[in-house]
Amino acid sequence: KHSADHFSKLQSLSISSINGQMKLFVSEGNPHCLKVLAALEVTGVQCDVQYVNHEERVVPFLSRPALPALLLPSGLHLFSSNAICRYLFEIVGQDSSERCNQWLEWEATDLQPALLQALHMAVLHGKGSEVSKVLQGPLNYLEQSLSKGNTPYLTGEAVSVADVVLWAALYPVLSDSSLACERTSVKAWFDRGAVLHSCESAAQKVLQGKGLQGMKSYMQRQPAPQSSQSRDTQPCNSNPAEVSRAVSEEEMEAAALTWSKGLNSCPLAADRQHPILPHEGKRNLLVTSALPYVNNVPHLGNIIGCVLSADVFSRYGRLRGWNLLFVCGTDEYGTATENKAREEGLTPQQICDKYHAIHSSIYKWFQIDFDFFGRTTTEKQTEIAQDIFWRIHKHGFLIEDTVEQLRCEKCQRFLADRFVEGICPHCSYPEARGDQCDKCGRLINAVELREPQCKVCRQTPVVRSSKHLFLDLPKLEPQLEQWLEKSTSTGDWTANAKQITRSWLRDGLKPRCITRDLRWGTPVPHPDFKEKVFYVWFDAPIGYLSITANYTDKWEKWWKNPHQVELYNFMAKDNVPFHSVVFPCSLLGAQDNYTLVSHLIATEYLNYEDTKFSKSRGVGVFGDMAKDTGIPSDVWRFYLLYVRPEGQDSAFSWADMALKNNSELLNNLGNFINRAGMFVTKFFEGCVPAMELQQEDKKLLALVGWELQQYIQLMDKVKIRDALRHILNISRHGNQYIQVNEPWKKIKGGDTERQRAGTVTGVSVNIACLLSVMLLPYMPTVSQTIRDQLNAPQSCVNTMLQGTGTFVCSLSAGHRIGTVSPLFQKLEVDQIEALKKRFGGQQTTAQRASSTQPAAVPAAAAEVATSNGVDPEKAKQLTQAVTEQGEKVRALKAQKAEKAVITAEVAKLLDLKKQLALAEGKSSEPAPQKGKRK
Ligand code: MF3
Ligand code: ZN
Repeated sequence: KHSADHFSKLQSLSISSINGQMKLFVSEGNPHCLKVLAALEVTGVQCDVQYVNHEERVVPFLSRPALPALLLPSGLHLFSSNAICRYLFEIVGQDSSERCNQWLEWEATDLQPALLQALHMAVLHGKGSEVSKVLQGPLNYLEQSLSKGNTPYLTGEAVSVADVVLWAALYPVLSDSSLACERTSVKAWFDRGAVLHSCESAAQKVLQGKGLQGMKSYMQRQPAPQSSQSRDTQPCNSNPAEVSRAVSEEEMEAAALTWSKGLNSCPLAADRQHPILPHEGKRNLLVTSALPYVNNVPHLGNIIGCVLSADVFSRYGRLRGWNLLFVCGTDEYGTATENKAREEGLTPQQICDKYHAIHSSIYKWFQIDFDFFGRTTTEKQTEIAQDIFWRIHKHGFLIEDTVEQLRCEKCQRFLADRFVEGICPHCSYPEARGDQCDKCGRLINAVELREPQCKVCRQTPVVRSSKHLFLDLPKLEPQLEQWLEKSTSTGDWTANAKQITRSWLRDGLKPRCITRDLRWGTPVPHPDFKEKVFYVWFDAPIGYLSITANYTDKWEKWWKNPHQVELYNFMAKDNVPFHSVVFPCSLLGAQDNYTLVSHLIATEYLNYEDTKFSKSRGVGVFGDMAKDTGIPSDVWRFYLLYVRPEGQDSAFSWADMALKNNSELLNNLGNFINRAGMFVTKFFEGCVPAMELQQEDKKLLALVGWELQQYIQLMDKVKIRDALRHILNISRHGNQYIQVNEPWKKIKGGDTERQRAGTVTGVSVNIACLLSVMLLPYMPTVSQTIRDQLNAPQSCVNTMLQGTGTFVCSLSAGHRIGTVSPLFQKLEVDQIEALKKRFGGQQTTAQRASSTQPAAVPAAAAEVATSNGVDPEKAKQLTQAVTEQGEKVRALKAQKAEKAVITAEVAKLLDLKKQLALAEGKSSEPAPQKGKRK
C-alpha cells in the first residue's frame, strides 16, 4: 500500500533509521575524513562506513553538505570531524583531557587555516614549494611543544585523540615532503608506529594512493582561502597581483585597436514589443524563476535564489540581443494556502489575492523586470493541467492504487502526515509525527500510529481508504534518462542540479501520487476521482505554461517548440528534483512536443547571519522589510548578488553588507566613477579631453578588456556572482591608474603634462561608461544614473556587450558630460547595528499581529522546540533513560559481554547524554568552528 504523503515530500538522501547502529559518512579526497577514519582504526570502534559524494547532504536538516558525518543511534548527527574523533575515543572510555581539548582547539583555529592555504597552493596551483612557508608558524609551535613536553605523545605517554587529529591533519603534507626532517621532535612524533599505521591505512582509503593529488576534486570545491584580510579592509589599490597581471604587446595593440573603433551605428535596442515570441534565426530564451508560494512573504533567501537571479540573467540576455521572455508568478494552490486562510480568517482566494499583491509589490521594489508575473489559480491552469493529465492517462503512464489515510471527521478533512501525532509503533515514543518518529528516527506510515490524534482539534481520526492516481515514473525512466543525458551534457546545469538529479535516479524512481483529497487545487477531471484535486507539485510547474498562456494566446510557440527555444529554469536547490525529474516526466508522458528544460540553474542556500532564515521563528529579513531600511534597492541587489550562494552556501550578514557597501561600492566603484567624472568637470569644463594613448594606457585597456571578456564568459554561463567580481576588478584597475598618474597634479604642469592629464581623464571616464553597462543587470538604477551623469549615448550598451565583449571609446574627445554627483552613501556602524536590532530576528508588527493561530502551525512550533529548545519535560524522560542505559552498560561489562555489543550500548548511552544536555539547554558540542565550512 502506498501512503499518499509518503510521496509528497522530497525523500531525504539518507534516512535516519539505523536500527541502533552508528554510521559514518565519508567522501574520498576529503582530508577531514582522513581524521575520522584514522580515529576509527585507532579506537577499533565498530561502525558502518559509507562513502558518498562530496556534495551529498547526509545530515538532512543542514543546508550544506557536511562531511564527514556520524549518524548516532538516535538519528542525531555529529558533523565536525574533531567532535566525531572525540566521540569515538569516548566510546572506548578515553574522555579527552583539558590538554587534549586545547590541542583540538589549536588544530581547528590555528593549524587548519594554514593547512587549507598550503593544500590549496600545493594541490591546485602546483606550488608545493609554498607549503613550508605557510606552515612554518604552526609547525614550529608543534616542535617547541613536543620538545618541551618531553613525552612521546602530545598529551603524555599514551596516544590521545589529539595525536590522531593532528596526525591525520598533517599527514598529507608531512608524508609528502621533507618538512618534518628539520624538526626532530615533530619527526619523532610523526613516525611513532601506533598512529602511523592507522593513519596510513586511512590515508590509503581517502587519498587512493594518489598523494596530494587525491584531494584535488575536494579542494576545487573549497572556497579559496584568503591569505590576508587586506581585500576587505582596503579594497581599492590593494591586490597588486591582479593589477600587475602580465599583458603582452599584442594584447595591448589589439585593445587599442578595438578601442579606436568607437560605437556601433547599429540600431539601438528597441523597446520591448509584447507579446514576445520566438523568432526563426534568433537565440530564443524562455526564462522562468520558481513560482514563489503565495502563502508567505518571501525572504531574502527566496529572492536571491529565484527571481533576482533570473532577473539579472534576463536583463543581461536582453542586452546581448537575445530574444528573451521572462515569466514568473505565484504558486497558489495546496494545503499551505488553506491553512493560511484558516489562520487569517479569509477564504483561500482572498489569501491568494492578498499575497499575490504583496509579492508583486516586493518584486517591483527590487526592480525585478518580469515580462509577465502571473499566478496559478486561473482558468488556463485548469485547462492546461487537465489536458496534460488526460494525455498522460491516454498514454498509459498512470497507476491507480488504494491509499489508507487518516481523516478527521470533526475538521472534515484528510490529515496530511504532519497534522497527525500519536504513539510510535516501534519505540512507543508518545509524540511521533505521522511521517517519522523524532525519537527513534524510523519512518512511519501515519495509519500505523497508535492512538493517533488530529493536531488541530485533538480528536481521533478514522482510517479511510480511497483511490489515488500515481504517475508511473519507473515506466518513464528510460525516456527520462535519455533526455537527461542530452540536456545535461549540452546545457548549463549547475553542479548541484546534476548531482541531485543523479542521486534521485540512482535510488530508483517510484510512482508518485499526483492526487489529493483537498479542495483548494486544480480539480482532477477523471469521473472516478471527482472530489480530488491535483497534488501541488504536479500542478505548480504547469503554472509556467498557463502563466505564459495568460500572457499570450500563442504560448505554444514557447512551450511546444523544443527546437527553437532554450528553456532556463532558475530555482533554489530544494526544487531541483521536481524540475529535473518529476515535471519532465509529466511532459514526456503527455507526448505533445513540449519544450523541456535546457539549463537548470540552482543556487545553494543563503543563511541569515549564523542561522537559517525561518518564517516561523521570524528570523531573517523579509522582502517587505528591505525597503523600510532606507537602503536603496540597488544596494540590496548588489549585496545579495555579491553573496549569491553560487556553488556553496553563503550568508547574509548586516555587518558584511555594510562592509561591502563601504569598501566595494563606495571606496572602489563609486569612488572611481566619481573621480573620473569630476576630473572632466573640474579640469576640462565638462568636455571629454583629447586622448593620446601611451603604452601604459594601452596596457590598462588590455586589462580592462580582459575583465570584460571574463565577465561575458561567466554571465553566458550564469555565474552571476563570479561575473560581478570582474566589474569590481575594473574599477580597482581604474583607481590604481588614477593614483599612479595623478591627473590633479599634472593638470597644473606644462603642455605635455596637461595633455597626459587629459588622456588619463578621458580613458577613466570611458571606463566609467563601460562600468555602467556591465552594472546594468545588477544595479539598473545606478547604471542608468551613471549614464545620465555622463550623458552617454544609448548605443554604448549594446556595442560593448557584443560578441566576446568589446571595450570601445564611447565618449570621444569633445563629448559633453552631465552633472556628476556621488553614487553611494556610507553605511555607519551604529546605523547598521540599529537595523540589525530592528529587523533581524523579528517580523514586522503587522505580521506578528496577524498570526493569531497557534493551533494551525504545529510544525512550526515543533521546529522551535527541537531547534533551540530547552525542554524540561524531555529532560526528565532523558534523565531516566540515561540512568537505565548506564545500568545496562554496567551489567554488560560485568558479564564480560562481547566488545561490539558493549560498544553499541555505550554509543547509545553517550548519545542519550548528548540529547539530555541539549534538552537542558547545555550545548554538548563545541561551538561550530568559526568561519569555517566543510
Ligand atoms: N512554490 C515552490 C517553492 O517556493 C516552487 C514551485 S516551482 C514550480 O519552493 F515549478 F512549481 F512552479
Ligand atoms: Zn519511535
